[in-house]
Amino acid sequence: MRAETQRDILHRFFALRQAQTTTLAPELYRQRADVYTDPKRLTAEVEALFRGRPLLVALSGDLPSTGDYVTTEAAGVPLLLVRGEDAVVRGFLNICRHRGGRVASGRGQPGRAFKCPYHSWAYDLNGDLLGQPMARDAFAGIDRAELGLIPVPVAERFGLIVARLGGDEPIDVAGCLDGLGPELADYGFEDYRFFDERTGVVEANWKLAHDTFLESYHIFSLHRESLGPDMLSTPFVAEFFGPHARGVVMRREVTRLLERDESEWELRPLASIFYMLFPCAVINMPMTGHAELWEFYPEPGSPHRTRVTAKFYVPRAPADDRERGFWDANVRYTMRVVFDEDLAQQEDIHRSLRTGLLPEVIYGRNEPALIHHHRQVELALNGDGHARG
Ligand code: FES
Ligand SMILES: [Fe+2]
Repeated sequence: MRAETQRDILHRFFALRQAQTTTLAPELYRQRADVYTDPKRLTAEVEALFRGRPLLVALSGDLPSTGDYVTTEAAGVPLLLVRGEDAVVRGFLNICRHRGGRVASGRGQPGRAFKCPYHSWAYDLNGDLLGQPMARDAFAGIDRAELGLIPVPVAERFGLIVARLGGDEPIDVAGCLDGLGPELADYGFEDYRFFDERTGVVEANWKLAHDTFLESYHIFSLHRESLGPDMLSTPFVAEFFGPHARGVVMRREVTRLLERDESEWELRPLASIFYMLFPCAVINMPMTGHAELWEFYPEPGSPHRTRVTAKFYVPRAPADDRERGFWDANVRYTMRVVFDEDLAQQEDIHRSLRTGLLPEVIYGRNEPALIHHHRQVELALNGDGHARG
């Protein structure tokens, strides 16, 4: 992030603090409770949000070298991303053309080929079918060239890897990031190294799980004993980029900057910087210096279950056990706060909403990124969202 942007955010923070307020939405938002529980609504969301538009699926640092692959899942669709010998990232459905097995798992280098564990059909880095061992004439009459892995459109730019689960037009990453691309590029995600990944399925709607990352109002209360002593609930400094948002949550220590010359102001060690990348990914840049990619996808067909994935990246590969231990402790701490505090809360809320006895929930003006996200979801469902990319 440019020094000028950092100073601008800090100035906005101090001005809001002086005025004892926070970034405010123009008006509060009443949300029907059943948007979180209605199966028909989920079907419409999958179509409008997950199947037809570009999704952030990985960081460039997930595939640092040619021949690297990573598997992931977006809205229940298993994906295989590969950096080919030409350094270009390609995406495929991670689904074997024989009978649907997963041809790869985890991440790494596949060696000579991806080999489906079920009957060992083998595919190369371009997704082409190389062999069907032990099959002899069993598949005679079908041209092997027809049986490559099914490609999905993928594009890489600004250190991000973006895919779309339908259509075959190329993806315009800059267009779909609505001006946020260069700021994200400044972090150099291609140089971050994957450190750890955690996945959990929570009993709550995907938007409820995602909502926890969209406001800091709850920090003083829900995280009273964990984040509360270090982080400020308010002011929350929010800015919007098309359907996306940047939200900055400051550490209490930030006030020390007021004693220093502005030329020394540096945001990163004093804040958690969140990028909410529509529709359901969050990049969090916490003050510890690592990067987190969070994804919130509904489990197939269910408005009541969400697969939450957290991927942790470190600025460079850990040099020794001490460094590894430091990052491990960060992962454990983050998972404890998010799963035991945030997501446990959202599971309770989801059970309450499923009763059908609460007609609506209310998003306050002090939860502007929450309001923004829900408005953007409505726009996309009404066919009036950002159709670019
Ligand atoms: S399902 Fe993959 S080889 Fe049979
Ligand atoms: Fe939280």
